Amino acid sequence: MNTKYRKTIVAGNWKMNLLPSDVKNYSAALMKLYGKNHFCEAVVCVPALMAIPMLRALRGSKIAVGVQDVSAEDSGAYTGEISAAMLADAGVKYVIVGHSERRRMHGETNAMIAKKLRQVLAAGMTPILCVGETLEERDGELAEDVVRLQLRSALYGLTGLDMRHVVIAYEPVWAIGTGRTATPAEAQQMCEGIRAAVRKLFGARVARAVTIQYGGSMNPANAAQLLSQPDVDGGLIGGASLDPEKFYQILEAAKE
Ligand code: 13P
Repeated sequence: MNTKYRKTIVAGNWKMNLLPSDVKNYSAALMKLYGKNHFCEAVVCVPALMAIPMLRALRGSKIAVGVQDVSAEDSGAYTGEISAAMLADAGVKYVIVGHSERRRMHGETNAMIAKKLRQVLAAGMTPILCVGETLEERDGELAEDVVRLQLRSALYGLTGLDMRHVVIAYEPVWAIGTGRTATPAEAQQMCEGIRAAVRKLFGARVARAVTIQYGGSMNPANAAQLLSQPDVDGGLIGGASLDPEKFYQILEAAKE
């Protein structure tokens, strides 16, 4: 982390877990733990259905609400989709874009992800752009190329000003839900590479200010070490964010 130049952001990604009836207890527990001392930006990315109840439940706290996906289109005949304008109007602040589970299981391409990212920015919300390589790509020494391509195709054409509202999450696919975490050195190396790629596209000032999270089996036991790396500015937490106590412990690890 480097809190002088950029925000530390720890975000939970509930994925398709918990129920609307869990929102009240979860939010109450998290607010009790995290209500007063606020050491980093805390975000809970819930299924879209739970966004409004979660916003209500967290009212008065500094914990922000995000969701996990958005339509690439503005509005119209797109059955089942939810637009960025709808999310922003409801009060949602963050949207995860390009998660590997959506790339892999829902056929999301870099081009679709670029469109979604622009929708989120145009609606005044913050996209959390996920990038990361598979195990085959890492073993084939392609990790950096893959991540660079994902970044370039998502970010190409944005302005430096746009970039002030973009968060990047490095999530190696082999570390997601597997219990196998990237080592702090592996996480640092890629996050540093991501910052270098942003520098090439947008210049040093933008690169210095961009928040880069690590995601993939982050938990209370490994969070502090990962977050102590100079280019790791937060976390995107799956499994461990489902328990407010564990999620809080990770937030606490972001305290310098
Ligand atoms: P896990 O923390 O469960 O590995 O999930 C990481 C992730 O995909 C967050 O978006």
